Order: sequence, then structure tokens, then C-alpha cells
Amino acid sequence: MEVVIVPDAAAGGELIAEAMVELLRRKPDALLGVATGSTPLPIYEALATKVRAKAVDASRARICQLDEYVGLPAGHPESYRSVVLREVVEPLGLSPDSFMGPDGTAEDVRGACAAYDRALAEAGGVDLQLLGIGTDGHIGFNEPCSSLVSRTRIKTLTQQTREDNARFFDSPDEVPHHVITQGIGTILEARHLVLLATGERKADAVAQTVEGPVASIVPASALQLHPHATVVVDEAAASKLK
Ligand code: F6R
Repeated sequence: MEVVIVPDAAAGGELIAEAMVELLRRKPDALLGVATGSTPLPIYEALATKVRAKAVDASRARICQLDEYVGLPAGHPESYRSVVLREVVEPLGLSPDSFMGPDGTAEDVRGACAAYDRALAEAGGVDLQLLGIGTDGHIGFNEPCSSLVSRTRIKTLTQQTREDNARFFDSPDEVPHHVITQGIGTILEARHLVLLATGERKADAVAQTVEGPVASIVPASALQLHPHATVVVDEAAASKLK
């Protein structure tokens, strides 16, 4: 695992966007796994700026989601499909056909999870997977005690994560209780994992991820098992590293 400490979130976004540009120059149809939440927004802004400036041709890039709420109606502005379309697919000028994610509206949720794992494999696997981290050390929505070999499946959000995500909804009660998330085993199959963490609230989780034992109580610690994992942290999120 490599750890890169940057001065602030904007610098982290710039650094990771540049890595994505380099990947797209080598492999124009790379499959880019994206996360939602606040942390990756500087990455998406920096990447869209580079694409608009024609630093790279991203027209063949493919995008896939890490996770999705269960039960939000199709087109709900906070479904992760809507968020990724708004924050990533449209700013990069890509068509919605270049983008895939788990179906959080499916009646057969288990079937939708298995179908998503199959779709990722059939697409050739994820080339670069972006990750944020929860204050409790989750990646995707693999909450503490998730199996480190888990596949895409339905998970129940902890009260802490629902509170953390309430800012995106009109009322805390509207935050869904369930999500479909790539499993930790699924995430570890991506060829390059890039986790960005910013702000002091993430400092404990970052320290446990990087310096603690590999343990399911801190799902992000599974990155230690990956041959090519990069953890980019700003100074506040790095403040509890030894
Ligand atoms: C969302 C996701 C989550 C977030 C995490 C941090 O797709 O995978 O693991 O990355 O909850 O969220 P923010 O960045 O909003 O602090």
C-alpha cells in the first residue's frame, strides 16, 4: 500500500484525476469505478476540467458504480445512479450507455447483486476503483464486520452511516436503511484501488486502515491485502498516522 499525503482536498483531487488521465491515455476504454459522497467531488471536478481542456480523450471511458441505495425510486436525485450521472457521466460528456451500476429498484435484490458481479467480470474487470472511507472504516457500504471476501450483496446501513448521509436528504428519516454494495472481495478484484480521505473526521479510520491489523472490524484495512492500493490523505486525515 502506498500512502500519499497532500496539503488539502483539492490537491488530492488533482493528483488522482491525473492518475486517471494517465490510465485513459494507456487504455482509452478503461473501466473506472466511482464512489459517491462528498470526498470524491474534487476528483470529478479536476478530471472534467482536464477533459474539457483536451488533456485526454475520455470519450471511450466506461464508468461503474460502487454501491446503490435500495428502494429509492428510479430517478430520485439522491439515488447513486442519479448522482453519478450528474457528477461524473454528464460532466465528462459520456453517454449514459457507458455507465453501469447495481439495480436498487429490482424486486429480486439478490439476483440484481449477482447480475452486477457478472456484469463487472464480463466488462473485463475494473481498472481503477475510487474509494472514500466512512468514519467507521467502511468502504463501499461494507460496514464493520463485513466479510473480507464478500461479493456484491445487500447490506443494512449502521445508524452512524445513516446520520452521516442525512445531509443529502430533506429529513434523516428519508435515508434508506439498505444498500447494494460491491463486496470487499469484489472491490479487491479491481486492478488499482485509490482511496481518498480528507478532513479530521476520517483520521481515526485512516490510521486503523493503514497502520492497524487487517480486520473485518475496519473493512478498509483489506486494502493492505491488495497489490496496488494507493491511499491519498490530506494533512487533517493523516493527523493520527504514526
Ligand atoms: C459511497 C461510498 C461510501 C463513501 C463514504 C464516505 O459510494 O462508497 O463508502 O465513500 O461513506 O462518504 P463521504 O465522502 O461523503 O464522507
